[in-house]
Amino acid sequence: MPKYRNSLNVDKDSNDKSITRRTFLALAGLGAVAGVGSILGGSILGFLYPNAMKVPPSVFSIGRPADVLATEGKVFNPKQKVFVEVVGDKVRVQTGVCTHLGCTVNAVETGYACPCHGSTYDLEGLNTGGPAPRPLVYFEVYLGASGELLADKTKKIHVPGDAWHTVRV
Ligand code: FES
Repeated sequence: MPKYRNSLNVDKDSNDKSITRRTFLALAGLGAVAGVGSILGGSILGFLYPNAMKVPPSVFSIGRPADVLATEGKVFNPKQKVFVEVVGDKVRVQTGVCTHLGCTVNAVETGYACPCHGSTYDLEGLNTGGPAPRPLVYFEVYLGASGELLADKTKKIHVPGDAWHTVRV
């Protein structure tokens, strides 16, 4: 019976801690294969796993009707990058994303101003200056089954007057 039976040439009975060149190369090869395998496996799994959770949902809550109506005026929602505007019993939601290159606009006395390249919009969101090619759109607002007011970013409204949603408390 041969003294060495496994592929790594390790003698279980030996007290010698040094490893042979062959053993070292075999272990290094195994390590390299495991490393490359984990990198490839991670890449493939990352590609196959849906990234739906990384994208913010297009439908989002702006709050319960009574809470929304309690905040009269225009309030910026930084998470969704929208302005929620309440006048009386009506609410509308407008994007805060500049139509030029996507910076977040600031609400100013005359409407909106983009800090990136100087685009300006009037109080309704119509582009009035700078490189912005289009007005700031509004999103449809409706009462969800949960009892909260929802805004849907996929349903765009281009006429400011049509964007108002009457809230019933
Ligand atoms: S991104 Fe707003 S002006 Fe360029």
